[in-house]
Amino acid sequence: MHRILFVCLGNICRSPAAEAVFAARAAAAGLAVAVDSAGTGGWHVGNPPHPPMVAAALRRGYDLSGLRARQAVVGDFTAFDLILAMDGVNHAALEALRPRGNATPLALFLDGVAGSAPRDMPDPYYTGDFDTVLDLVEAGADALIARLLHRG
Ligand code: 4NP
Repeated sequence: MHRILFVCLGNICRSPAAEAVFAARAAAAGLAVAVDSAGTGGWHVGNPPHPPMVAAALRRGYDLSGLRARQAVVGDFTAFDLILAMDGVNHAALEALRPRGNATPLALFLDGVAGSAPRDMPDPYYTGDFDTVLDLVEAGADALIARLLHRG
């Protein structure tokens, strides 16, 4: 069982999408996973994902409506085997939160995606482009699944 946490800034756009898309595609691939998502910021704690993100995901068959935002906590570094940040700002915020001596792998979600994809996932809360984010989320999820299947 792989325990994986996806992290963005608000936990209402990118990371809940990554959580739901990865969970659906991992299940379809027969991979046993436990997933969650969190934000490095606390502005939206307790809120459902951003409505246009929910709508765009639903058009592709992913249901984000039951998710609620929470803030990343120190305990996440022991509760999860792998933490994936949506961009470099959130990666840095997580490194600052990491407890001394902890070695839990922390990477950029898009680092595993081949080709010309940007390493930072653009923030649709500001760009308004939810479909580009979902394209990148699907590519990142599939790259992650391929890596986990190879590793066993
Ligand atoms: P997310 O997008 O990090 O993909 O959830 C954002 C949502 C809200 C804010 C920033 C980013 N905000 O500043 O409220």
